[in-house]
Amino acid sequence: MCGIIGLTSKANVSLAVLSTGLKQLEYRGYDSCGIAYVDDNQLNIRKSLGKIIELEKQLPMTVTNCAIAHTRWATHGMPSLANAHPHHHGMVTLVHNGIIENSSKLKEELGNEQLYGQTDSEIICAYLDMLYARCHDHLQALWHLEQMIKGSYALAVIFGDALDGIYCVRKDNPLILGVAEDSIYLASDVSAFIEHTDQVVYLEQGEIALLHEDQLSIYDKNLQLSDYVIERSLVNKEDVRCQGFKTFMLKEIYEQPTVIARMLDMFCPDDLQQLKDNLLDISKYDQIVIVGCGSAYHAGLVGQILIENNLEIPVRTYLASEFRYANINLRSDTLAIFISQSGETADTLAALRKCKIMNIDTLAIVNVIGSSLYNEAKYPLLTLANKEISVATTKAYSAQVLMLMLLIIRSGLMDDPTLHQKLLALPKVITNFISSLDLQPLVAELKDKEHAYFIGRQIDHAICLEAALKLKEISYIHCEAYAAGELKHGSIALINENSVVFANIDEQVVADKTLSNLAEVAARKAKVFCISSLEDVAADIKIPRVKALLQPLVTITFYQLLAHEVALIRGCNVDQPRNLAKSVTVE
Ligand code: G6P
Repeated sequence: MCGIIGLTSKANVSLAVLSTGLKQLEYRGYDSCGIAYVDDNQLNIRKSLGKIIELEKQLPMTVTNCAIAHTRWATHGMPSLANAHPHHHGMVTLVHNGIIENSSKLKEELGNEQLYGQTDSEIICAYLDMLYARCHDHLQALWHLEQMIKGSYALAVIFGDALDGIYCVRKDNPLILGVAEDSIYLASDVSAFIEHTDQVVYLEQGEIALLHEDQLSIYDKNLQLSDYVIERSLVNKEDVRCQGFKTFMLKEIYEQPTVIARMLDMFCPDDLQQLKDNLLDISKYDQIVIVGCGSAYHAGLVGQILIENNLEIPVRTYLASEFRYANINLRSDTLAIFISQSGETADTLAALRKCKIMNIDTLAIVNVIGSSLYNEAKYPLLTLANKEISVATTKAYSAQVLMLMLLIIRSGLMDDPTLHQKLLALPKVITNFISSLDLQPLVAELKDKEHAYFIGRQIDHAICLEAALKLKEISYIHCEAYAAGELKHGSIALINENSVVFANIDEQVVADKTLSNLAEVAARKAKVFCISSLEDVAADIKIPRVKALLQPLVTITFYQLLAHEVALIRGCNVDQPRNLAKSVTVE
């Protein structure tokens, strides 16, 4: 759950190239950071607490031709200089992203070796040093390390007797190599080096990469040199620039119409029948499970209700962290759908592997091509949200929801004569809506509050869950979403004159019920807001009405913008909220 970058180069490169690249990885963690760089044939290590900007303050104005750097999100051991990467023992200096599950056992084998911190990463650093001392062969030592360690990792290693090269290995954590004119890059994510090259090589599990000057060598499991393919990355430079917006989150909210248009253009540019060529018919399954974490789970809940309403297939949505340990035996006529922006979330990946063992068909809705979920699912589907930088997801969530809608249409609604036009109209409806929204009265009401509640039924409840998550994760206001009917079974006890309650009402059949629940909380002096797209509901915020199937894509943009504005006015770091990382590759 950390970010790593490194490079070797034929020419000298400013350290700023590494620190700037590292900043692109801050979404993966930002509690401490560090760099190891070769200067004048000496290896130097600098570390800092906090964000990359702190590290930059202590970097000399120098150049390097071999360096590795890291931004950390603490798992083993608190954020401290000792626990920050790079780690160094004897001949080995390394950076690590992941979790080594058997690190205590490895530590025992180290005997009297003195460790300076508490991290699993330092243990494998010392362990690799021990292995290298035995065989004096870089490749052999790394190969042995991989036989010994259990868990997930992306590692970049510099050996003290070969200061012009970097070795890389990975398992269940991303590590992408970039081939530039004079240099070879490595990073957890292409965005870290996209300013320098879009020519990438995806390192496979079990392979070892050696970066040396501008040369890349890849060794297979038998330590034989193997061929590799250089591909053009789908990430582009514009994706990692704020382009005049106050925050990346705002930019990404505003990109949603473009993402929707891009996906429609890809999957059904001319008519709905084209969906047949690109998407699986999910109606052939007798039951469906959907699995995800965070907002991806919420997208799954939207999908669940829409599938049940439109295809009448029973669906159950699971949090991946629960699914992986649940005693579930799925029938062979089940389709398991996995949703993940990154395609690397550890729990979602473990859940997918569990389904594969059960011989269940797996479909993954993923935003990163070549990610583990994308590679391992039987039916991978790429959402075309492009790179998302803000930790709080917006456009990737919408892309997941749209993909679920397209699957539903393909599996039962292709003959609806007006649906294609309604889909194509969506980007404009959303653009017009978000650019005309006046949120100031609501922001003023919320900015000093400490509790907010979101209530709704059916699809509205699924929207409320995402709305509450968006607001809480970036503004730090305590937010809860409730199925409106559940309120009086306990939670209404919390409501008083300091409470703010939002009711989302897009679902016609339950509109009156939710309105009654809103009246109940208003009677307890809560400040209430009704958010609705329905014509006959008197709403504080009127959301443009589109076809019921498509409504969530319009409605959610209101809550995303609201969360953004409230977080800004509260002085929060919108793009990098405290304690959160965008990609959770540990349990
Ligand atoms: C983190 C992110 C969320 C995301 C969740 C699942 O918690 O902050 O925005 O929804 O992980 O990530 P995934 O990459 O699997 O969609």
